[in-house]
Amino acid sequence: MTNPDGGSSKLWGGRFSGETNEIVERFNASIDFDRRLYHEDIAGSIAHAHMLAAQGIISAEDSNAIVAGLEAIRAEIEAGTFAFRLDREDIHLNIEAALIERVGDAGRRLHTGRSRNDQVATDTRLFTRAACDEAIAALRDLRGVLIELAEREAATVIPGYTHLQRAQPILLAHHLLAYEAMLTRDSQRFVQARARVNVLPLGSGALAGVTYPIDRAAVARELGFDAISENSLDAVSDRDFVVDFHSAAALAMVHLSRLAEEIILWCTAEFGFARLDDAFSTGSSIMPQKKNPDVAELLRGKSARAIGNLVQALTLLKGQPLAYNKDNQEDKESLFDSVDTLLVSLRVAAAMLPTMTFDGPRGAEAAVANFALATDIADYLAKKGVPFRDAHEAVGALVARCEREGRTFADLTLDEYRAAHPAFDADVLQIDLAASLAARDVPGGTAPNAVARARDAARTRLAAERAL
Ligand code: ARG
Repeated sequence: MTNPDGGSSKLWGGRFSGETNEIVERFNASIDFDRRLYHEDIAGSIAHAHMLAAQGIISAEDSNAIVAGLEAIRAEIEAGTFAFRLDREDIHLNIEAALIERVGDAGRRLHTGRSRNDQVATDTRLFTRAACDEAIAALRDLRGVLIELAEREAATVIPGYTHLQRAQPILLAHHLLAYEAMLTRDSQRFVQARARVNVLPLGSGALAGVTYPIDRAAVARELGFDAISENSLDAVSDRDFVVDFHSAAALAMVHLSRLAEEIILWCTAEFGFARLDDAFSTGSSIMPQKKNPDVAELLRGKSARAIGNLVQALTLLKGQPLAYNKDNQEDKESLFDSVDTLLVSLRVAAAMLPTMTFDGPRGAEAAVANFALATDIADYLAKKGVPFRDAHEAVGALVARCEREGRTFADLTLDEYRAAHPAFDADVLQIDLAASLAARDVPGGTAPNAVARARDAARTRLAAERAL
């Protein structure tokens, strides 16, 4: 786009008498990253052109030429033959300028009743909506993996922890289903984020609406939006939906990070409950014996990006006066990064988990070591009518005695139990791992029956979500 008068060659250059400073051109441009929005940009422009023609604002011939031109440009971009130009600043101007080169005056009419401000807001919403859909699907896949693993490992026991101190025996399946519960809430958050993102800003113009008899509802229908925005100032400047995405992504990544941390712990010699498949671990360049949980560590580490991106998006918005400001161009790279980070993390976790193996005997042994049945023994006394606080004290004294003497509950005789509290009977000797687990047969508890029911309920819920 050369200008014979020696002024600016930009699509917006009419009032400019010279070219943009070179470093400014590079600083201002977003084409290196917002080219990723080409699909959304073209879809939005096609819907806009259809509407302009339907409303008699441009002719049907012009609309047809625009649509054909945009489709050809989309094909070029997808074939990798489209020449993106830095001097054309961003994806919107790159496509519009290329359209004008292709179809001439018709292309010069596309931007009627539209601004890049409502255009970029529309593109970014379309992108974020698709990202929500992908996140929901990937979360569901991972939830399915956790449910299947809970079924496969239905008999595996590990110690449950509080304060990272062994607390009470639990089923590994119960532990896995705790993550399934977190990821279910994550799925819900993306469903809710998707509902808020799915509102059309186009038709807001630069900030105040447009002067043409446009049909916003028709554009919304064509692009699959549920509603149109209600305030043009808000519509062009609002990036709450980006924050919504980051927020849901950051929390989902925090959940993955917690799971990753447990996997890392479980695979240590110190815990020894789990083993990673070779395909999901790495070696050391110096220590021949090492098998490192890099994948889990990266899952944990990548949560930092998602959290950082959330803070970046919030900070980006906080000082902006209405309406659109160029600051908002800075919303994209972090959004893309969070989308990519979340999706790859969910997928790698889903691939890794089924390949893990668990050391059942080791888990069961650890589950009852360190007096982990103490609560069960106190509950035993309480069920015989002893006030729970007294039962707690009596069993605490037994623990202290065993520790002093280097013994465990299993070594105690009935007389020794009775010396701690007279309400103990011979059946106290039957309290073991299986009894401890089976006793917690309440909704949400770790009894094998309760966990099987929870697992089936999770599976049913997931199937129902998928059928929607
Ligand atoms: N590249 C810009 C962005 O990402 C597009 C909107 C520019 N609008 C403007 N009035 N300069 O926000």
